[in-house]
Amino acid sequence: MAKDGEKGEWKEFIWNPRTREFLGRTGSSWGLILLFYLVFYIFLAGLFALTMYVMLQTLDDHKPTWQDRLATPGMVIRPKADDTFEIIYDLEKTETWDMYTEALNKFLDPYNNSVQAQKNDECVPDQYFKQEDSGEVKNNPKRSCQFNRTILEDCSGLNDPLYGYQHGKPCIIIKLNRVIGMLPGKSGVAPYVTCGAKKEDSEKIGELVYFPPNGTFNLMYYPYYGKKAQVNYSQPLVAIKFLNITQNEDVNVECKINAENIPIASERDKFAGRVSFKLRINNKN
Ligand SMILES: *[C@@H]1O[C@H](CO)[C@@H](O)[C@H](O)[C@H]1NC(C)=O
Ligand SMILES: *[C@@H]1O[C@H](CO)[C@@H](O)[C@H](O)[C@H]1NC(C)=O
Ligand SMILES: *[C@@H]1O[C@H](CO)[C@@H](O)[C@H](O)[C@H]1NC(C)=O
Ligand SMILES: *[C@@H]1O[C@H](CO)[C@@H](O)[C@H](O)[C@H]1NC(C)=O
Ligand SMILES: *[C@@H]1O[C@H](CO)[C@@H](O)[C@H](O)[C@H]1NC(C)=O
Repeated sequence: MAKDGEKGEWKEFIWNPRTREFLGRTGSSWGLILLFYLVFYIFLAGLFALTMYVMLQTLDDHKPTWQDRLATPGMVIRPKADDTFEIIYDLEKTETWDMYTEALNKFLDPYNNSVQAQKNDECVPDQYFKQEDSGEVKNNPKRSCQFNRTILEDCSGLNDPLYGYQHGKPCIIIKLNRVIGMLPGKSGVAPYVTCGAKKEDSEKIGELVYFPPNGTFNLMYYPYYGKKAQVNYSQPLVAIKFLNITQNEDVNVECKINAENIPIASERDKFAGRVSFKLRINNKN
């Protein structure tokens, strides 16, 4: 009996024909609830869209709004065979260094004088090439300076297409990673690269020669305004040629950037402004 009564109660709760209530509410009550939620969600969606819109208005297409404050550039070397910073080859076996010279060829292709002359400007050397926006007026697109492949002389691959690898006098190319807005080298002194051997290898590194002379990154290649603003930007390069490196031994080399205002290898970033790699040339003779 009690069971029957319960069942009846349930049925009535779902649909009560007397009061015309569904789940305890009348049609108009349900209607009001639906209307409330509809309005509520439309309001939320509108608020979200408005916030997004305001946010996007404050972003500049041509430069990032937020950037690491301590933007110290890292350095990388070419050729880069794999992820290990090692250049190891056998002097007699062309196939062991082919990949290096090929990687350099590929890397330097966009620096061909003809390409640079077509894309970029001849800038005034030894001074920053500033192209600031004036207030709301964006000075875009921005021009970039020529970095002609011939600057790298013996390491350009033009007069010596094998970059010295065949003679055990290999070239290594260094570039500084791009940092938007960076003005390296205060008071008109251009940043320059110096390389040396780690302590235990100092006898083995032999004489080095830098291209361009003194291993400088000319000031005219700075500041960099970002990929979108400065589409044709060519990063300046420094090449190092090892003239008399000891063969059949590992030589651990470290190159660093010297500039008054680029801190090197802080606690925070051990790789800032420097790059280390191992160079080994095997030769059975
Ligand atoms: C750059 O110059 C080298 C040597 O002259 C040539 O082999 C190469 O095809 C050129 N690359 C481009 C992209 O013009
Ligand atoms: C780069 O090479 C081109 C073609 O040889 C030349 O016209 C131009 O003056 C060179 N640029 C610089 C900055 O030396
Ligand atoms: C970029 O290079 C192209 C040629 O490759 C040139 O037509 C264009 O004017 C250059 N743009 C800028 C902003 O330097
Ligand atoms: C290289 O540096 C030396 C001294 O540090 C300076 O006298 C010389 O003019 C520099 N050469 C070039 C081409 O910058
Ligand atoms: C090359 O280095 C060796 C020592 O590793 C040295 O004896 C020799 O004089 C150097 N040659 C030149 C031309 O500097």
